[in-house]
Formats: sequence, C-alpha cells, structure tokens
Amino acid sequence: MCGIVGYIGGRVAADVVLDGLSRLEYRGYDSAGIVVASAERPELDVVKRAGKLQVLRDALTERARAGAPLRGVRAVGHTRWATHGKPTDTNAHPHLSEDGKLGLVHNGIIENYVALRDELKSRGHDFRSETDTEVLVHLIEEQYAGDLPAAVRAALTRVRGAYALVVTHVDHPQVVAARATSPLVVGLGEGESWVASDVPALLPYTKRVVYVHDGELVVLDASGATLQHLDGTPVDRAAEIIEWDADAAEKGGHPHYMLKEMLEQPDVLRRTLGGRVTPDGLDADLELALDPRAVDRVVLVAAGTASYAATVGAALLERLGRVPAGVVVASEFRYQEPVVDARTLVVAVSQSGETIDTLEALREGRRRGARTLAILNVKGSSLAREADDVLYIHAGPEIGVASTKAYVAMLGAFALLALRFGRARGTLDDAAAAAWVAGLDALPDVVALALSRRPQVAAVAERVAGARDALFLGRGFDVATAYEGALKLKEISYLHAEAYPTGEMKHGPIALIDRDLPVVALATPSPTYEKTVSNLQEVRARDGWVVAVAGDGDTGIAEHADAVLYVPVVAEGLAPVVNVIPMQLLAYEVAVRLGRDVDQPRNLAKSVTVE
Ligand code: G6P
Repeated sequence: MCGIVGYIGGRVAADVVLDGLSRLEYRGYDSAGIVVASAERPELDVVKRAGKLQVLRDALTERARAGAPLRGVRAVGHTRWATHGKPTDTNAHPHLSEDGKLGLVHNGIIENYVALRDELKSRGHDFRSETDTEVLVHLIEEQYAGDLPAAVRAALTRVRGAYALVVTHVDHPQVVAARATSPLVVGLGEGESWVASDVPALLPYTKRVVYVHDGELVVLDASGATLQHLDGTPVDRAAEIIEWDADAAEKGGHPHYMLKEMLEQPDVLRRTLGGRVTPDGLDADLELALDPRAVDRVVLVAAGTASYAATVGAALLERLGRVPAGVVVASEFRYQEPVVDARTLVVAVSQSGETIDTLEALREGRRRGARTLAILNVKGSSLAREADDVLYIHAGPEIGVASTKAYVAMLGAFALLALRFGRARGTLDDAAAAAWVAGLDALPDVVALALSRRPQVAAVAERVAGARDALFLGRGFDVATAYEGALKLKEISYLHAEAYPTGEMKHGPIALIDRDLPVVALATPSPTYEKTVSNLQEVRARDGWVVAVAGDGDTGIAEHADAVLYVPVVAEGLAPVVNVIPMQLLAYEVAVRLGRDVDQPRNLAKSVTVE
C-alpha cells in the first residue's frame, strides 16, 4: 500500500525522503516519485517513475549527472500502489498544481472524486492524471492565499473518503499533512522533522514520534511539528519513544525477509507466550478488561492470513471456552447488517492494525453495540486506538509481504485467549489447563524442530515448482492450515492453489485430480486421521500426486503418499502452529525456484488501506 515520507530540515531533503521510501518498500507499490522545494526555484522540482524505487533512483542519478540534482530543504516522496489509473509516470505521485507551485502525495481513496473533478474541470482546471488524488491538488490550490494549513483545512471540508496526505508549496516554508483513516506518524529531530506512513521510514534518524489521529492536521517546520484538528483548534499530544531499532527491520543475513521471519518464529512464540501464564500455571493473564462470562458469542473479523488465524482462533474458543465463535471476512461484515449485541464479542485480527476492511468491521461491531477486542502486532495502530481491548502478539516488525511469523504469533495469542475463556467460563478443568499450558511451553522448541526439516520440504518443492496448480486439504483445526498453505503458495509463487476441507474433496475438486496435480494433505494425528487416509487413497486411485504432512513416527502413511513431510506431534489444537511451518517453507522454496520476488510479490501490498 502507498508509502509517504515528508521531510523538512538541514539535510539533503531528497536523500532523506528516498531513504525513507526504501524503508517502506515492504508495503508494496508499483510507482514512486519525489518533489523538492528550494528557495532558488520559483517552481517545485518533481521526478516520478512507474516501477520500483531503483527506476526513480536511476532517474535522479541521471539528473545529477546532467548537472541538475534535486536540491532543497523540503521534500515529499511517495510509493504508489495503483487504485485509480494504471501505474504510469503520470499517475505516480506527487501531483502538482497547474502553476507548478503546489505538490501533493496521497494514500487512500477520495470517494467523491468524480463529482469534485467535474466541478473543478468546469472551473477550468486541467487534469493530467487518471487518479482520484489530483482533485485534492486543485482544491487546495484554489484555497491557497499564503496560508497552507488553512487552505488544506478548507479543501478537506469538500472531501469524502480515506486519506493521508502531505502537501508542500514553493512559497510556503512548511510541510502540511492530514489524516482520515490512512496512517501517518511524525518524527521529531533537532531542527528537522519528518512525516511518514510508518515508523521504519524514521528509525535511522529519530525515535521520537507523534502519531497523527483521524481528523487531524500536522504542520511541520524546521523547529518541529504542531498538530491541530481539521477545524483549526490545536491538539496537544506528547511524543513517544519507539523501542524498535532499525536493525530489527533488516534481513539479518538471509536472502529474503520472509526466510528471516520464518526462522524467527520460535523466538516470536516465546515473546507472544512469555510472561502471560498465571503463577499457578493454569490460566492466562492477558490484562484485558473483558469478562469472558459476559460473552455469549464471538464474531471474528479479519482479512487474508489473519482470517485463517482467526479461523483457528474460533475453533479454539469453541473447543476450550465452549462459546459459539465464527469468522466473517472483514470486507463482508459491515454490509451484512450483522446481528450483534452487548453480549457479542467482535474480535478484529490484524498484523498491521491498519487494514481498512478490518477497521471498518470493528467500527460496525461497535456501532451495533458489541464489545470489541483487537489482536494486533503493530502498536499505536488505528485498530489499537479503537478497540475496547487489545491483545498484542509481539511478533516484531514483519517486512515480507506474505505473512508468516505474525500468523504463528496470532495462533499463540489465540491459544492464550482460549485458555482464558476456558478458565473464566469454567469449561476447562485443572488437568486440561495444565496440559494445555505444558503444550504451549514446548511450542517454541517444537516449531524450531519443524523449521529444521527445510531440506525435506525443498525436495518436494522441486516437483511442485513444475506444476500449474496445487490442492491443499485439511480437516478440523487444520482446515485453516490448508487455506493458509494455498494462500502462501499463490501469493509468492503465482501458482494457482486451492484449499478444501479434506472431506469436501469428493464433492467437486476430485474432478481436477490427475498426475499433474500435487495434493498437499494435512494428516497429523486427530480423530479423523483414518478418514483422511481414505481420502488420500481416493486421490491416488486417480493418479494424483500426494504430499502428506504427517506426525513423526507415522511410518504407515508412506503407503498412501508419494512424499511425506514429517512434523513433530503436538496436541490437536496446537497442531496448526506446527503444521503451517512446512506450508510456509514449501511456498518459499517453490517461489525461489521460480525466481519470484519473494518479499514483494506482484500486485500485493503489506498493508491494505483501501476497501
Ligand atoms: C494484505 C496482505 C496479507 C495480509 C492481509 C491482512 O492482503 O498482503 O498478507 O494477511 O493484508 O493484513 P493485516 O495487517 O490486517 O493482518
């Protein structure tokens, strides 16, 4: 999703902004641009290009070689993830006013842009791009009479939609930014300040930050930043100190962030689970105001990988807490006229805490009177501010667009939440609780063991990389693992992959089976193990190529599969944490063999802040 960086101060502004943009690459984008203001030029200087940041860097190097480097003390840059209009040089941000004096970048969607564009055109404005963003430029330009914050405030009264925007004007010594829904954070230095859509852009320079909230405007100048509401009244908010260091967001010597993040999973689980079990070892202490006894039903809302974590979470809440729980894909929830009340708990699950579908689903739940809980990774995110309770998963920064460690950490958090529900509601006795906690304690080491089996997965990946499609099957808790396995493979290898509950295979997908279709089946110990084995025989009877994920010691499975990926055996309810490891590794190994851009797969964004 689009990345924004603005800077004002004594450094070479273009370099600072470009560096910041490179630290936001993980968000996903398909064009990039930068605008610089300097006292020596009557107009802004802009360079923008379709493609990756390197294309923009090359263009800037060429400019410098030709004796015209981009110089100035104020700069604003943007990486664009196309929504309205193709990823072209023209549609890339920043967009300039007709007189070349005002430049603007925007993240989000202006929902009433068509009406605004027609109105602006009728007043003689010339539109150059196909973007919704350009209406903002002309609206602010019309309002500008020497006071940029006032012009932005006035223009925004006309606008409906989601935005984070940053504006600079050649005649005005400030940078102005505003937010409605899309994230923005201000960085504070000595005699310099930044604004960005995410913290990693600021980390090499400052750890002192102020989060901008919805409906706020921020004015940056060299002496610092001031916040105000969109009506101009001041906002007083203290700066916070960020604890992550820039190194935490580097690859740590691995060829891809995704591999680094997969290998971090044992440590991530230690962080998620650590210090959250009560001293008697029988309950979870999650510091929630929520009383599980006051909940009659749980509705989980999430998108993508988080929705599969939520699927496991729902099953755990039902099994341990005996509370009805179900998942609704976040983008559907608010349009369903959902039936919820004060005894319904709406749980929003999100790595970024910024996914607009999930945020809107949580808001819908609140509007209808439900209690809300957010299960999140990123602190200070929009969801964190709006939920009644927050349970952090402590996965650390996840840079790879395809989520891995956040998924496993979400499952860890659900394992704790389900324990809390089971204890509070009296549905989990001491012996069962003690066994569950013992299983959780062992989990980080078990996941490390599963990761050490990477070579056996690599051998299977050789064959899968030559396929066109793949089918993933799982039962019970591992239905979600099958979905997540298929999602990982399609996201980063671009192979078509589908997932089904194993028992559903005979009701349709069996028609696809031939010798060219790898069928990856989760077959670790469970009450349905034998049924799964029968299903595998059905696949092989039709020449299908079966890869079974089976528990250590299951020598019998080899008879029913062409390849076996062995994993350590854990309690059935914890198996999704372990069984997803070969799914992640398989997707990774296939993508590497196919030469894909593993960390930034095409068309995907890390944080999707548009509906
Ligand atoms: C995007 C990402 C997915 C992610 C989903 C939800 O689609 O590409 O990897 O699972 O958003 O993101 P969230 O931050 O809400 O977990």
